[in-house]
Amino acid sequence: MAEADIGLIGLAVMGQNLVLNMHDHGYRVAVFNRTLSKVDDFLAQAAKGTTIIGTHSIEEFVKKLKRPRKIMLMVKAGVPVDEFIEILLPLLEEGDIIIDGGNSLFTDTIRRCESLREKGIIFLGVGISGGEEGARHGPSIMPGGNSDGWPHVKEIFQSISAKTEGEPCCDWVGDAGAGHYVKMIHNGIEYGDMQLISEAYSLLKNGLGLSAEEMHDIFKEWNQGDLNSYLIEITAEIFRVEEKGGGLLLDKILDVAGQKGTGKWTVINSLDLGIPLTLISEAVFARCLSALKEQRVAASKLLTGPESKYEGDKQEFIDAIRQALYASKIISYAQGFMLMQQAAQDYSWHLNYGSVALMWRGGCIIRSQFLGQIKQAFDKNPMLKNLLLDDFFLQEIATRQVGWRQAVANAVKLGIAVPCFSTALTFYDGYRTANLPANLLQAMRDFFGAHTYERNDQPRGHFFHTDWSGTGGNVSSGSYTV
Ligand SMILES: NC(=O)c1ccc[n+]([C@@H]2O[C@H](COP(=O)([O-])OP(=O)(O)OC[C@H]3O[C@@H](n4cnc5c(N)ncnc54)[C@H](OP(=O)(O)O)[C@@H]3O)[C@@H](O)[C@H]2O)c1
Repeated sequence: MAEADIGLIGLAVMGQNLVLNMHDHGYRVAVFNRTLSKVDDFLAQAAKGTTIIGTHSIEEFVKKLKRPRKIMLMVKAGVPVDEFIEILLPLLEEGDIIIDGGNSLFTDTIRRCESLREKGIIFLGVGISGGEEGARHGPSIMPGGNSDGWPHVKEIFQSISAKTEGEPCCDWVGDAGAGHYVKMIHNGIEYGDMQLISEAYSLLKNGLGLSAEEMHDIFKEWNQGDLNSYLIEITAEIFRVEEKGGGLLLDKILDVAGQKGTGKWTVINSLDLGIPLTLISEAVFARCLSALKEQRVAASKLLTGPESKYEGDKQEFIDAIRQALYASKIISYAQGFMLMQQAAQDYSWHLNYGSVALMWRGGCIIRSQFLGQIKQAFDKNPMLKNLLLDDFFLQEIATRQVGWRQAVANAVKLGIAVPCFSTALTFYDGYRTANLPANLLQAMRDFFGAHTYERNDQPRGHFFHTDWSGTGGNVSSGSYTV
């Protein structure tokens, strides 16, 4: 009998917790998993005593669903999503809805959306953030895809999502791959936030020689103010977790960072769209550098650097690090929103940036007080070209600037790597520079490759070529790009 409001395939950590969350909110859910024993284990343990319907074949699963069928995939991104779509297709009818809630690449979502639309099936690509805890008690949900599906799932998703000041952290993002795109940017920003916090830790530990207890207190205090966020909160906790035998667990963790690819996708996309997403790029490269552990250990014995210790005022340096962290974070989000604005233009999406900030305000890993201010900035001016130009953020950066520069300068003097603090500052200085040295760059390009240049005393769009050495011709290049 068709009795389930929604069906979910993929009973790993995210799937199980989302199902329990939906059940808590009064929805009847049917579940299926490739490895069937996981269905039985789930029903016997986490879902014991619930009305969740376990099924043991795809046919049985589909039969349990009320029409239009709503089927959510929470499986590994990539081929498994396509394979499940192929298995489901012969069993579905026109108007049924497939929802991919995994971390799929947005271009895959665009492709799936189009091909399923031709077959009469509605496809939604939905970004979900918040990990295990979020999935169970309220994640941030970023739905996109074929908008015909939104009215059918809106109530379910908004009821299970996190809430901020009574508002659900879930709203329609946009057509085709927009939901997964915004989730990808979220993950990229998460890379940036984590790297910035790690750089602050490195300066506190290696620059100032602070103890774990002192760093716990500092992060706890930072979490009370403008840096208030989930990641700062858990960082404070990490400084207190001891191993069973004694000693800080953090000190025993190998300094090699893993990654699953969403940061890399964000950076690749920024290059495709020509947006200087420098901070997230450095955060991804910092993980790549961390992976070269053996090389770094060997190089640490050979390559020299400054020997001096920090000799200034301790509290002043701590305050400077805090300001560098906050100002760099503003740069990271400004760059992330610049990329989304360009993507909206290139992919013809109507993104509501205030609503995106609200979706990230609660439930997800990057949740923070600061996102409330981003929402306000875009609510005040939906056409805002850059977050840095909003009155509030303009002032926030201006008041942190001295400390930010001091923290980066100290890091350079001490020989401590701070790729994201410094790239943020470099971006800021570049963005506020009316005349960059790109005139020389253009001269060189025209000198060796006849690539032409525009002149600052002529209207834009007029191109000139000079025979710089007196031995070249008058023909300019139209194809060779450097
Ligand atoms: N974990 C997180 O914190 C988190 C947060 C946000 C989003 N996500 C995304 O949410 C999705 C689910 O994540 P997860 O961590 O719960 O699980 P996962 O480890 O990414 O995937 C496990 C699920 O995928 C199925 N699966 C794997 N390979 C398959 C294949 N070749 N064919 C069919 N099914 C296959 C597994 O079935 P079997 O049991 O049969 O192996 C299992 O149901 C992923 O896209 C993930 O990126 C995860």
